[in-house]
Amino acid sequence: MGQPVHRPFGIPAGPLVNASFCAAAFTQYFDIAVYKTVRTAAHASHPFPNCLAVRVNGPLDPDRLDTLCADADVDTARSITNSFGVPSRDPDAWQRDMAAAVRAAAPGQVLVGSFQGTRTGTGEDAYVADHVRAATLCVEAGAPVLEMNLSCPNEGTGNLLCFDTALVARIAAAVKEAVGDVPLLLKVAHFRTDEALTEFLAATATIVDGYAAINTVPARLVDASGAPALPGAGREVGGVCGEAILPAALGMVRRIARWRAGAGADVALVGVGGVMNVEDVAAHVAAGADAVMSATGAMIDPQARPACRVRVVASLTPDTPRTGTKGPELRHRQI
Ligand SMILES: Cc1cc2nc3c(=O)[nH]c(=O)nc-3n(C[C@H](O)[C@H](O)[C@H](O)COP(=O)(O)O)c2cc1C
Repeated sequence: MGQPVHRPFGIPAGPLVNASFCAAAFTQYFDIAVYKTVRTAAHASHPFPNCLAVRVNGPLDPDRLDTLCADADVDTARSITNSFGVPSRDPDAWQRDMAAAVRAAAPGQVLVGSFQGTRTGTGEDAYVADHVRAATLCVEAGAPVLEMNLSCPNEGTGNLLCFDTALVARIAAAVKEAVGDVPLLLKVAHFRTDEALTEFLAATATIVDGYAAINTVPARLVDASGAPALPGAGREVGGVCGEAILPAALGMVRRIARWRAGAGADVALVGVGGVMNVEDVAAHVAAGADAVMSATGAMIDPQARPACRVRVVASLTPDTPRTGTKGPELRHRQI
């Protein structure tokens, strides 16, 4: 995407909630830091608790809505649920802070601004315009790369925006029109069928610059008594992330990479989901990811990162510059 990075490894939208967190991530050699998703107006968080450790019996099947007990031991669990509802500060506050996060990146590091639109009940045009406004605010703050979150399960799992191909194509086109050359990634959830995924990719790949896959996998979360684990209406189902979603994430990365190769599409691919150690990074790279990110793994053990550093470099394939029609020479793997 025209951004040289030392190592194509980082932390996706979520854990880095402000410039201090982003600066800390850069200091710890996470060379791509995604500033947690922002909105065009202040938006309250779901009530506490927001992160619970979950019991899982192996990998989650993303095509099935499992019921999981969210009472696992926080010290040993490797899968969690996060349920924040994508809170945001007012742009007056987050724009200044995002600008500081952009400045915290050293040469060879990049800050990605994640944003999403908010439905206000005033129709589709207003929803499209809200995405455009959010993207424009991120560009004003200096974000050199944008990521549009289409896949938050904590906003209601029934109708994730990424499953509405026509609307996404309309929004993406409007956003690209507004932001010009600033690269735009689409953050997607796991798609059930190849047919739907192919339709989505074919409709958007000529508009945007890449994809980040995947967001969390939804599950019904209960406590030891079987009651909903998270308080408040609409929170019975939450997003699960961490170790249990690695196969689901790799599956999506593989499918997108296969489609990209077949279509000859010039789009970047960021592998996200279940990355807990360097072997998982290598698995994402083998599946076709140009860059890899870890949220839960980095939260559980941020100090593991420097040890990872040397081995990540060793595990990547040689530098392969790509020339694209939508930007300057791409050097994801410039090491
Ligand atoms: C605490 C937390 C907050 C998150 N918030 C966001 C968010 O605001 N926007 C977004 O696109 N994804 C968000 N995510 C999802 C992550 O970016 C990522 O897609 C998901 O956690 C899978 O990666 P992992 O298995 O490495 O955790 C969040 C994840 C966590 C753990």
